[in-house]
Amino acid sequence: MKNEIRVFAPASVSNVACGFDVMGFAINEPGDEIILRLTEKSGVVITKITGDNGKITYDPYQNTAGAPVISMLKYLGMEKQGVEIEIHKKMPLGSGIGSSAASAVAAAFAANIILEANLPRNEVLNFALEGEKIASGAIHADNVAPCLYGGFILIRGYNPIDIIEIPVPENLYCTIIYPHIEIKTKEAREILPIEVKLVDAKTHWGNTAGLIAGLITNDLNLVSRSIQDVIIEPVRAKLIPNYYGIKNAALDAGSLGCNISGSGPSIFALSSSIESANKIGEAMQKEVEKIPLGCNVYVSKINKEGPRVI
Ligand code: HSE
Repeated sequence: MKNEIRVFAPASVSNVACGFDVMGFAINEPGDEIILRLTEKSGVVITKITGDNGKITYDPYQNTAGAPVISMLKYLGMEKQGVEIEIHKKMPLGSGIGSSAASAVAAAFAANIILEANLPRNEVLNFALEGEKIASGAIHADNVAPCLYGGFILIRGYNPIDIIEIPVPENLYCTIIYPHIEIKTKEAREILPIEVKLVDAKTHWGNTAGLIAGLITNDLNLVSRSIQDVIIEPVRAKLIPNYYGIKNAALDAGSLGCNISGSGPSIFALSSSIESANKIGEAMQKEVEKIPLGCNVYVSKINKEGPRVI
């Protein structure tokens, strides 16, 4: 049995405008790194956390990386096994690009290997979801599933969870801008309406189906028409300063579609070439600087691999 493993798990964009809680895709950079080490002394201990400005708890039961490991040990009847965890956050917390999901996925993926559990991906998913639940207070797999499977994921249903992998056009690029404010997913969920109007639901499921069809058939025009959100965006846009200024700048610079990434404050914009993706990043950055706020810009293709041992 190997006694140490280091895993990278990627950031992800969830919701993708019209797929609240049911769609998401992984990107290449940034991502989190987790190290698991088997020890003689039983119990799960978090020994080191970097890149979090002291914000993440060392209590393994309350930690997005700790909880999946504890849970998997219990499931395997290996409670006596000692495990040390190091968490290296390589992306900002509360930024809307699946930071907690990346840590949870990296930990569950690493535990599955180092404990020689050989669980299939759909079972590893359940352990990672336990970590994500701690962070957002709700079970939603639209960051965890793309992070674990790679690619673009549709969660067709939750009871039981039904993961559908959607092929994406080869030339699809994603620009992400992260304005330096923090939005807590829990709080961004609390402000959402519990009920929606039938007329809005109709618009929404038309767009959701359109986006999936556009991705599968490589119809970027249809993808572009479908990246619309009449339910969540109008409510959450208020949490992001100059949101519509940033979005319009991305669209004017040639983006196929632009919207809030997860619960924000990051904003994603899709495009069909690296040149366009970079140009969109510059245009969005100018708008964020007007606020004025600092920001990070990430440009990436869709990550098809998910987590990897490094
Ligand atoms: N679907 C979730 C939400 C993602 O929008 O609340 C959170 O990152």
